[in-house]
Amino acid sequence: MERFTEKAEIRAWSRAQRAAGLRVGFVPTMGKLHEGHLSLVREAKARADRIVTSIYVNPTQFDQAEDLDRYPRQLEADAVMLREAGCDALFAPHTLYAEGAPPHATWVEVEGLTDHLCGAHRPGHFRGVTTVVTKLFNIVEPDVAVFGNKDYQQRAIIERMTRDLDLDIEIVGAPLVRDRDGLALSSRNARLAPDERTRALSISRSLFAARDAHGAGERDAAALVDAVTAGIEAAGGRVDYVELVDDRTLAPVTRVDAPAVLAAAAFFGPVRLIDNVQLG
Ligand code: PAJ
Repeated sequence: MERFTEKAEIRAWSRAQRAAGLRVGFVPTMGKLHEGHLSLVREAKARADRIVTSIYVNPTQFDQAEDLDRYPRQLEADAVMLREAGCDALFAPHTLYAEGAPPHATWVEVEGLTDHLCGAHRPGHFRGVTTVVTKLFNIVEPDVAVFGNKDYQQRAIIERMTRDLDLDIEIVGAPLVRDRDGLALSSRNARLAPDERTRALSISRSLFAARDAHGAGERDAAALVDAVTAGIEAAGGRVDYVELVDDRTLAPVTRVDAPAVLAAAAFFGPVRLIDNVQLG
């Protein structure tokens, strides 16, 4: 696996692959990799000939400075995992933003899809995500890019951005990967104390219970949302939001008559976790 820190070098490498007639697949990440990330690499390998993974903890998408400082980092261990997963190139830049004057001044924003869920609870977060992903797309110039449905709203926003801005990149969504006990895999899980991790299982358990209730005929969104909220709070979690939204518009629904997503964000200790299940 080749490693790059410079934009010009990864761009030249990627262009050389495409000039040789090879399809380039791309998996953007912030590192501290786990099986969820590696599943995206495998998905990309099924759709492209050469795979680039980026590792960059993007400062502009963090709404809390402390969360940015504490974000787990392990570049060398990540590189080993990527090589073993068959990734061809790792792009791990030191920074992606112009330093000094003039400062970075250009932002990409997607309207509507960002109104609810994490968009409503983390001001500026998705602006940072869509801006850095646009930059990464322009640097790597991939044919296909893979995003996980763990971050359901993010995947939907990137798809819309790609369409609206006529980016010639195929966006693929990949399933959410969980630990054996149900906890959604996340780089942030590494920050959970053992008892916090145990209590955090209430998120997936409550979501699964709501999915079962929906399967048994419950269609009232408030009933499903209230049950998930109660389940997380009973385990001592601080709920940021529980929302039931249409799976395409991401607008809240009051009855689940069409495919929908039940999504939750909650704090256990200082760590904010997100999870979701699809209904219908
Ligand atoms: P990060 O949280 O590192 O996630 C990188 C990719 O891995 C995202 O597409 C995310 O949805 C996916 N992923 C994370 N956990 C997963 C799981 N348990 N199952 C399946 N996929 C999972 O998302 C970001 O980084 C950043 O916002 C980024 C897109 C890199 C822009 O900075």
